[in-house]
Amino acid sequence: MKRKILSVLLTAAFVAATIAGCGGAAGAAADTAGAAADTAAAAADTAADTAEAAADTAAEAADTAADAAADTAATVEEAAEEVKEAAGGAGGTINVGFAQVGHESDWRTASTKSAQDVFSEANGYNLSFVDCDNDSAQQLEAVRGFIEQGVDYIIIDPIVSTGWDTVLAECADADIPVIVIDRTIDDSDKYVSWVGSDFLTEGKAAGEWLKAYAEKQGIKEINALIIQGTTGSSAQIGRTDGFSEIADREGWTILDKQTGDFTEEGGQQVMESYCKSYEGKFNVVVCENDNEAFGAMTAMDNAGVKYGPGNDVILISYDACTAGLKEVQAGKITADFECNPLAAPTVEGVIQTLQSGGTPEAQILVPDNWYALPDQIVPFAVDGKDQSMVEVTDEVIEAQY
Ligand code: AHR
Repeated sequence: MKRKILSVLLTAAFVAATIAGCGGAAGAAADTAGAAADTAAAAADTAADTAEAAADTAAEAADTAADAAADTAATVEEAAEEVKEAAGGAGGTINVGFAQVGHESDWRTASTKSAQDVFSEANGYNLSFVDCDNDSAQQLEAVRGFIEQGVDYIIIDPIVSTGWDTVLAECADADIPVIVIDRTIDDSDKYVSWVGSDFLTEGKAAGEWLKAYAEKQGIKEINALIIQGTTGSSAQIGRTDGFSEIADREGWTILDKQTGDFTEEGGQQVMESYCKSYEGKFNVVVCENDNEAFGAMTAMDNAGVKYGPGNDVILISYDACTAGLKEVQAGKITADFECNPLAAPTVEGVIQTLQSGGTPEAQILVPDNWYALPDQIVPFAVDGKDQSMVEVTDEVIEAQY
């Protein structure tokens, strides 16, 4: 439209100039027409500039829109990737973080190996394993590290049973399911499942067995020394409470209880001190795991104390790992109460249930057995339930962990 107006004005100017060539009044008219033409040309320039600016603005807007669309597409793609990763099992690798207690015992070695075998790459897992060296602060740090990594599942074997609520709330905020293995957490319920042994029953079983065995042997008085596990761990609490319940009921004397921290070195140190303080006064030693029992055996050997079936001192142990059962067979440990370390396959079952959208059981007990040689196998019951014992043989030892 502007171009049309301009061409009309230019034509008028040309006509006016032609007429001007014919006289004075006509010359003035031609000047006026020329000025009008200049004005029209300036207007046309302005219009062209405006159109150009509008085109530039439109192009910039288009660029911005294209960039935004590209960004959105990238975000969507990333989100899809995240969803895919979260789905894990749908052909992807499942990322699992395991905050393990440490490496204090044969039992722990068997537990770690079992977890590493189950959560292997070949089985579709990427396992981040942290040995927390029996240090609770390190264990909390490990769990927070797993949250930062964004793993799909966190497995915790809690060194101690309290102090967990805050970090488990952080796991819940990050939407990472937690599965507790072996020892229990007693001050938070922010986890999906617990898989492990019943430590209280283990302690009661040791007590009830001792009662039945002492009766069979004609032993009238029990004076016991206890070497406890890591203080505040549910394994220590359950075994101590279970055994003490029977001891209180039967009126036995517990001369002392001190921690050996579930280690051979700890068991030896405590027993060395017991041998000095309670020389000739004790006839039962209860070690809350096999490694403590090995240390206690060294200390008693050094102090000249005779232990095992037919000797002055009855030695009771927990775990029943291969090395422990060998000492039962050798007539050193009188009875060994199992704590099964192979819970990882059951934990995997929990994860697979979650992967398929199911709800796993909140508590899953791993069954335990009680072991002795034939002469030490006696009938007894725990909470009114008859128990059976397994005779230690080469085959049994061979099949153990
Ligand atoms: O929590 C299980 C206990 O911890 C085992 O009895 C012991 O050997 C381990 O260190």
